[in-house]
Amino acid sequence: MGKIIAIANQKGGVGKTTTTINLAASLGVLEKKVLLIDADPQANASSGLGIDVETVEIGTYEVLEHSVSAKDAIVKTGSPNVDLIPAHIDLVAIEIELVDKEDREYMLKKSLIDIKDDYDFILIDCAPSLGLITLNSLVAADAVIIPIQCEYFALEGLGKLLNTVKSVQNIHNPDLEIEGLLLTMFDSRLRLSNQVVDEVRKHFASMVFETIIRRNTRLGEAPSYGESIIAYDATSKGAVNYINLAQELLKKNS
Ligand SMILES: Nc1ncnc2c1ncn2[C@@H]1O[C@H](COP(=O)(O)OP(=O)(O)O)[C@@H](O)[C@H]1O
Ligand SMILES: [Mg+2]
Repeated sequence: MGKIIAIANQKGGVGKTTTTINLAASLGVLEKKVLLIDADPQANASSGLGIDVETVEIGTYEVLEHSVSAKDAIVKTGSPNVDLIPAHIDLVAIEIELVDKEDREYMLKKSLIDIKDDYDFILIDCAPSLGLITLNSLVAADAVIIPIQCEYFALEGLGKLLNTVKSVQNIHNPDLEIEGLLLTMFDSRLRLSNQVVDEVRKHFASMVFETIIRRNTRLGEAPSYGESIIAYDATSKGAVNYINLAQELLKKNS
């Protein structure tokens, strides 16, 4: 059975998209079948996987409004074993469009029922908001990965996110689990980075992935070539970190 994992944090720039793309690619090279759903109107995951987002006509928007089946919105990517449901900027309008619908929080969940078992993992790259698109992602998901940047204000907003997860568990999706908190953009030379790691581990203990994603310039470069870090520079620290994360995830779920 496929496992659906939302990568969420309403803070922008914490490494959600970088994690979604490169965890997907890493699981792919470890021979797992992966579907990435781009649930951010910015469409960074789509462009980061080499899709020309200007030309996207069928994507997450159509899947969320149920005008197209999830199966018909899937495209192949250059990354082995990774398929994609792309996004385009119009996705932002879905928040307004769904607002009057009775089942507005369940639109994505219902769409994914048909394809869930075609994949080992379905990863959803969430937008930096707690709006209806993110709510749909958390309702559809079995688990959530929360990237936390090893920077100033790392924990800012985390309480609100954890409350949202709790309310989704109470109201819409009692099975939703926290897969893990993921420390990102770690720089061992910075005292602050080390302090964030200590603090997060102290508060959240076993909820935190052992794997830490280091700051690595190659991770920032890869998307402009439309490639995952595995394709762009398989020997980089970033590639090694994300392969390790994929292995840790597989071990947790074996
Ligand atoms: N480990 C990392 N090392 C270096 N740059 C990173 C790393 N993770 C993310 N970045 C860069 O930081 C920026 C924000 O990351 P992104 O994944 O887009 O965050 P989000 O999706 O949460 O907004 C991007 O420019 C990305 O390339
Ligand atoms: Mg993003």
